[in-house]
This record gives sequence, C-alpha cells and structure tokens, in this order.
Amino acid sequence: MVLIKKESPLYVGVGVDGNYAASDPVAFVDKTNKVIPLEDNEMAVITAVDYKLFSLPDMRPVSREPIVVDIRPQMVEKGGYPHYMLKEIYEQPTSLYYTLNVQKPYLEAVAELMNRARVNFLVGAGTSYHSCLAGSYMYSKLAGLPTIPVVASEFIQQYGSTLDPDVALLLVSQSGETADVLRVASYARMKASTVMAITNVVSSTITRLVRLYIVQQAGPEIGVAATKTYTSQLLVHMLLALEISRKRNKIDDETYQKKLELLRQIPRLAEMVLKNSDEKAKEVAEMLKDSHHIFYLGRGINTATAFEGRLKMLEIAYIPSSAFSAGESKHGPIALIEKNTPVIFIAPNDSSRKQILGNVMEIKSRGAKIITLGTENDRELREVSDYFIGIPEVDELLSPILYVLPLQLLAYYSAALKGLDPDKPRNLAKSVTVE
Ligand code: G6P
Repeated sequence: MVLIKKESPLYVGVGVDGNYAASDPVAFVDKTNKVIPLEDNEMAVITAVDYKLFSLPDMRPVSREPIVVDIRPQMVEKGGYPHYMLKEIYEQPTSLYYTLNVQKPYLEAVAELMNRARVNFLVGAGTSYHSCLAGSYMYSKLAGLPTIPVVASEFIQQYGSTLDPDVALLLVSQSGETADVLRVASYARMKASTVMAITNVVSSTITRLVRLYIVQQAGPEIGVAATKTYTSQLLVHMLLALEISRKRNKIDDETYQKKLELLRQIPRLAEMVLKNSDEKAKEVAEMLKDSHHIFYLGRGINTATAFEGRLKMLEIAYIPSSAFSAGESKHGPIALIEKNTPVIFIAPNDSSRKQILGNVMEIKSRGAKIITLGTENDRELREVSDYFIGIPEVDELLSPILYVLPLQLLAYYSAALKGLDPDKPRNLAKSVTVE
C-alpha cells in the first residue's frame, strides 16, 4: 500500500502481525499502539511485514521511530452503553478528574504568554468555539484579562490584519485537525504572533504548528457530537484563568487555594448532576422530540451554555433550535413565541438570576412551555417552570460545566427517542479537515 500525506492527518500503525494506515490511530488501536505520524509531503510504502518512509519529491528515505500512543482498546469500546455519545457523557466525572491534572508547567507558561500579550484571541470551531466564549468570561471576571473569542473560519478575514508579535492566540481544537483552526495557526505564525493551543490529541497536527500546547487529558472521544471534551476545555480555561489571576495579583494565595478546592469538587458534582437529571432529561426529551423549534436562553457566561445546548440538539436530533443571550430575547426571538413553544432557560442563582427570571416571566406570559435549569433550592424558579432541572449550588464561572450536562442528555434522548443514531449524525464529521 502506498500512502502520501498532504494536509489531512495520516498515520502508519506498526503491528506484530501486520501494518496499518488510518487518519486516526483510534481506527487500529485494537491491533497496535505503535504509531508513525506522517508529515506533509511524505510517502509511506507498507506491506504486511515491512514499512518504508520517503520524503517527496526526491524520494529521500526518512527514518523515524514509531511513538507509543496512550489509547487502549477498552477506551474506544462502548462499555455497555448503546452509543458512544452516552458513554462519553457519563465519562465526564472521570475526564474532568483527569483534566484537573493537566501539566502545571504548561499551564503556567501559557498563562505567562497570555498575560504578556497586548491582545489575546481565543479561536475555535463548533463546540470548541463555545468553550472560547465561556472562557472569555473566565479570563475577564477572574483575571481582569480581556480576550476576544472568534470562530476560526472568520478569524483571518476579521482580525488577520491586526496580528503582530505582541498578539497571542489560544487555539482550541479537541482533534487538533480542524482545517480552519490549522489555517489560523499557520497564518498567525507567519505574522510572528504567539500561537498556543488546547487540544485533546497528543500527536495531532496542531501540536506541531504551535509554540506551546496543553493536552486536555479527556481520553479519546468517538461520538461526533463533542461532550466530554467540551467540559474538559472549560476546565482548562478555568485553570488558566486562575493562573493568570495570580500573576496579575487579582487573588491572594488563600483565595487561589479555595478556588482550586472548588475545582476539585467538580468531578463529584458532575456525577451528581448526571445521576439526578437523567430521568428528567428523558421526560423532557419525550415532550421536545416532535417540536418544530426550541429556544435556548442564558445570560452571562451561560450564554455559551445556551449555544452549546442548541448545537447538540440540532446536530443529533435535527430539531431546529435557536440560542440567544436572554437579554436579546426582546429584540427579536420573542416574536416567534406562541402557545407551547418550548423555551429552555439556563438560570443558575448567580449575578444574572434576577434578570433572567424577568425574561422567564415575559416569555411565559406569551404561553411558552418553560423548561428551566436552575439551582436546586430555587423554589421561585421551580414554581414558574413547566419542567425544572435542579443543579447543585456552584461558583458562577464553573456553572457552565454542570449546566451543560442535562442539555447533552436532552439532545441525546431526543435523538434516541426519534430512532436516530446519535453517533452518526447526517452530513457531519468528527473532524472537519477541509476548509
Ligand atoms: C466538527 C465536529 C464538532 C466540533 C468541531 C470542532 O464540526 O462535528 O463536534 O466541535 O468540528 O472540532 P475540534 O476538533 O476542532 O474541536
């Protein structure tokens, strides 16, 4: 078999009983975990017993030892769950626990470079972009550091001309292979800006393009709809925001330790939320599954949660859905509210709780069906809701990690109840390696 690598990822798997090739080592991990990532313009000639690498166009032989990837076959099996998506939703207490152990020196180095930069951009696509949006609230509120979240496909047009050596970019891509993100990395390097990344895949292309990267440690994600890698990205942003806030003297040592302690509670709280909201999510999904349109409204940092909940619902359950910052509801979306239109509010007991309750009342008075996610002891909110999902009290900046969990379940069960395969949504791919 002759292979040539150009832009999209390509790996040779070196096995005992044969050699393999795939765009992701996950495909052959039950055969071997010894992997050779090919570089652009390299050719590999593999047989069952041998492999040779060449650099093109002059066919110069290349020698490169295989690396060992830390993916075990049981990590990519369904482990008794009907779908990878559900398995990965339920893996979040564990993946969050692993993410808490990301390498400290890398966190410190990225925090240092972000702190030094004149301007910081956070760049990603799809779900990873939503983590950037939530992250921008963390950097601003905790560390007093303004950052600009931008979707990768728009970045060069919108901000390309502003790049220089004093600008830093934090690229977020779970796969490290999304073409739009890689293009931003190459472009920003050319402009001598500081390019860094958060990724979940150690051997991915992005790790070879950026100056520094943080590996999320969430474990392989197979489901097309990102779930555990999203909450893990949120946690990495939070860890970074905490480091930056210390550098900028925004918090003292005691507060820093307290915040770290709160972060350590997150895996346990995530487990509780999943356990307590599963049944309710099924019940709400039963009601939502035949809807023509669902609205998701949130405020502050949970605007990102509304966007992410909507994305999950439309990508796997194919239910048209819109998400807005709740403050925008009067500027348009309210025109579409009719009797029984389902509207999901993300309404924790935080600094925007009072305003969002006002939004709930406005929408309710138009006859909408009100589904709320709020603090478990929030009786007022529970009473005005048709469906209420209670979440334990949590720090405002950490709330997106817990509040997105029932929304993932809601999307999953809506798809499953409609008889759709949540692991294979139509027209979508896990990694989009073309622009
Ligand atoms: C695809 C996937 C999404 C994902 C996006 C970005 O569109 O279907 O689930 O959020 O790519 O992927 P990345 O690997 O860059 O985070």
